Amino acid sequence: MTISAIETDIDVFSTEALLDPAPYFKKLRDVGPVAYLTEHDMYGLFRYEQVRAALVDWEGFSSAQGIAMNPTANELSDGSILSMDPPRHKALRRVLDDALRPKYVRQVADSIEQLADDLVDELMAREEFNGVTDFAAKLPVDLVMDLIGFPRDEQRDKILVWALGAFNYFGPPGERQLSTFPDVQALMQYLVTDATPDKLLPDSFGQIVWEAADRGEISENEALMTMSAYACAGLDTTIAGVASTLWLLARNPEQWKAIREDPDLVPGAFLEGIRMETPIQSFSRVTTADMDIDGVTIPEGARVLLSYGAANRDERQYPDPDEFRADRNPTDTVGFGFGVHNCPGRTLASMEANALFVALAKRATTLELAGDPHRTPNNITRGLDTLPIRIS
Ligand code: HEM
Repeated sequence: MTISAIETDIDVFSTEALLDPAPYFKKLRDVGPVAYLTEHDMYGLFRYEQVRAALVDWEGFSSAQGIAMNPTANELSDGSILSMDPPRHKALRRVLDDALRPKYVRQVADSIEQLADDLVDELMAREEFNGVTDFAAKLPVDLVMDLIGFPRDEQRDKILVWALGAFNYFGPPGERQLSTFPDVQALMQYLVTDATPDKLLPDSFGQIVWEAADRGEISENEALMTMSAYACAGLDTTIAGVASTLWLLARNPEQWKAIREDPDLVPGAFLEGIRMETPIQSFSRVTTADMDIDGVTIPEGARVLLSYGAANRDERQYPDPDEFRADRNPTDTVGFGFGVHNCPGRTLASMEANALFVALAKRATTLELAGDPHRTPNNITRGLDTLPIRIS
């Protein structure tokens, strides 16, 4: 026998919850394997096992009607790799994997390490810096924007802000979502008029995508939406993950000491940062049939929130989930998604983060907060705006 999901008015998209989600996530996991969110007329999965199972089951939990939480954003995402199921998804993913193939990405490993070393040398001389703009954003802006191929002009500086706006626009209907429509428009305008194939840097991911469109493997709209996916998924996410990990390390000096003594812990510590702070907190899917989740029914055609952030803090999966442990190495985190839509940029993002933290671990004995960090709530991403850091 199956039962209906338990209703709850806990609002994960309230400003308070977006600023400090962990207590809300715990309550929502305790509601049951499935919760019905009355504030947003949506089902929600918050436990690790259920979120991961839904990500793997793309036939039952479809992306084809969009993964945003409002109909307008989902209509605008038509043609995006994020908003399709196999077999169409496979064709686009082949193009994307081509561009982001670990083999190709590893060719830039040396430049990533060099850039990270130079950056940390400079920061050591300064002693105090903003962990977001001066540390976490440098490689995405200086290197990944080149890899994607965005022209080196003044418009580039605006991409990060537009992308954060686009993430907000993916949230449930409301002021936070509606107010960022101009950012979505500006990003699309930029992609149509400024980041055109003739202006993209040579040998870039962007060129690979447009060449696939020229060969007829993907449509022009799909190529455009892939550029939008790069702009949104490839930059602010890495910045958020690196800044959050830096914040966690600054607050846990014994963990920083462990990393300094054994820099091999760095890759696992970055995954632990992704697990705890989860740069993309949630997306959604739509059920294609009545789905039974541990005896609870989600009806066909229902929108279901998949909370990567809550799953990553699930005590059923991770003992003492609110503790940052540099040696936990949670390779099974759903912070990069799972299943067919798992993040193709994971290798690149990890290479950037690892180079930065290894460079820092080799140089900085102490790493501490030099003031209060600040964050702006966002419907989808969790990152920081400023993070005052002192090193010596
Ligand atoms: C710490 C950094 C990053 C995090 C936390 C992250 C997170 C994610 C997550 C959770 C998904 C799954 C979406 C879903 O379930 O529907 C995803 C997909 C994606 N990511 Fe990342 N990402 C990161 C870095 C990057 C980078 C560096 C790139 C490219 C340069 C990138 C490009 C993409 C693309 C194109 C997709 C869509 C894949 C598909 O739908 O098949 N990401 N990412």
